[in-house]
Amino acid sequence: GLRKREVNVIVVGLDNSGKSTILNHLKPDLERAADIVPTVGFNVERFKAQSLAFTAFDMSGQGRYRNLWEHYYRDCDAIIYVVDSSDKLRMVVAKDELDALLQHPDIRPRRIPLLFFANKMDLKEAMSSVKVTMMLGLEKMENKQFHICASNAITGEGLSDGIAWLTQAAE
Ligand code: GTP
Repeated sequence: GLRKREVNVIVVGLDNSGKSTILNHLKPDLERAADIVPTVGFNVERFKAQSLAFTAFDMSGQGRYRNLWEHYYRDCDAIIYVVDSSDKLRMVVAKDELDALLQHPDIRPRRIPLLFFANKMDLKEAMSSVKVTMMLGLEKMENKQFHICASNAITGEGLSDGIAWLTQAAE
């Protein structure tokens, strides 16, 4: 299970969804804002917290760097997908990227737990987690277990519930 060995978690989502703000809550204090690996146009961030090893990256840039981020799919044991619940215009882009992720040969056949953060729940235009579930078509995912948490990455609200689910999901 997840507590018995190191678990590789990838944290993905569109730019501006709130990944960096979420990661700052999850990171051990000493590693905060350290260990950022910049490459041209593509940033990967890695750190460990408890038994979880996190690798985070952006899925933006019209898929230009897709070949770079896909490389991390094979070794991942769990996925955190962050969406900006207030960004109605780009919810369809977030769905397209999710669908591409789910169809990938290193992901599709595997029963990987997926945790969704419906982030920016504090904004008045934010959609509910039920609405986000519908817009991303999460109920239609096959062969996956998922959980969705409304979150406010600025205060940290909703984050520990999500991580608790993720930690037990593969036990
Ligand atoms: P990139 O750095 O572009 O990859 O984006 P990111 O996904 O890492 O998002 P980031 O954490 O930089 O957050 C983007 C903006 O949204 C920042 O201005 C954050 O302060 C803000 N933000 C993040 N989470 C929340 C939230 O829950 N509520 C509100 N109101 N703003 C948030």
